[in-house]
Amino acid sequence: GKGEYDHFMLKEIHEQPTALAQAIEGRIDPTNGRIALEDFPPGTFDGVENVQLIACGTSYHAALYGSLALNQAGIRATALLANEYSVTAPPVDDDTLVIAVSQSGETADTLSALRQATAAGADTLTVTNVVGSTAAREADETLFIRAGPEIGVAATKTFSSQAVMLTLLAQRIAADSRGEPPADLQSLLPDLAQMPSQLEDLLATDDAAHIARQYQGSQSYFFIGRGLGYPVALEGALKFKEITYEHAEGFASGELKHGPLALVTPDTPVFAVFTGEEDEKTLKNAEEAQTRGAPVIAVCPEGHRAVEVADEHLEIPDTDDELAGLLANVQLQLVSYHAAELLDRPIDKPRNLAKSVTVE
Ligand code: F6R
Repeated sequence: GKGEYDHFMLKEIHEQPTALAQAIEGRIDPTNGRIALEDFPPGTFDGVENVQLIACGTSYHAALYGSLALNQAGIRATALLANEYSVTAPPVDDDTLVIAVSQSGETADTLSALRQATAAGADTLTVTNVVGSTAAREADETLFIRAGPEIGVAATKTFSSQAVMLTLLAQRIAADSRGEPPADLQSLLPDLAQMPSQLEDLLATDDAAHIARQYQGSQSYFFIGRGLGYPVALEGALKFKEITYEHAEGFASGELKHGPLALVTPDTPVFAVFTGEEDEKTLKNAEEAQTRGAPVIAVCPEGHRAVEVADEHLEIPDTDDELAGLLANVQLQLVSYHAAELLDRPIDKPRNLAKSVTVE
């Protein structure tokens, strides 16, 4: 049941520290700090030169996050919408790994793309939450995210766990294919280990509820981010529209000035996600919106320069650039949740949506 919570979504948001701890448990070798994804003996990903990640919706945002983590680790990777794959699949060859990312493992679009990749001769792997799901059975390999059951239609904890597992997997693939772990692994693992407790701290604050109330009734809600902050901006907007029924859009920070700025008014709050990747540029992009009267809410660590510039801020604990966006995402989940609650929406079962989409 929902226990002390009014909705499964809120319960599942609060389960994230546990879900993440479960996801990483036993998957990092404490003796040498190496990533020991137990199902994949060392060398499993030897020769992988090229990764295609296929997914839909929130899982696509996790896939995009994973593709950027792979790129940053030096592996060629592209995230693709599974429902576009049948008409726009890039070629696969012997050194291509296709990763299907699906919480349920039952999404028809994703299964159909997975089957197409298999037929084209790719090695396949699925990242899923559901043991025994169709995607888990059909892919060559499976990485379970171990997030526990997710009842709310809006995916929350599974996004975080998928993104974290893809970040670890990116490091493993890079290590196997190059013979040594990427240099940034040393800073990532300690920060990953403290992420559950950092999330507990973040979840104990009520700043997101205050922000939701302050900007209630706005015309549109915009979310911007750069690098790993970009999938977070997309996810922030998807969650917001899905459960509040209000208009929201996510943009790459630098894209705002290439068109969307025409929509910006004092009635369109802009949430700016700072992940430590060229933050000064993102801040400038946010200021361009602010000049047009839009309130800017910075999602960033305390003491960040954006705090002085922005109208409001949502604090995230200090961490590695590779994880900052995931902490920011939890603040945005809370904003969406509280905004939907103020509007009295059926948060766990938004209209027209189903937990698992089994038609193409
Ligand atoms: C949004 C949401 C959907 C799913 C999408 C894929 O909150 O839950 O966008 O992410 O339908 O579902 P899975 O991950 O089960 O393949």
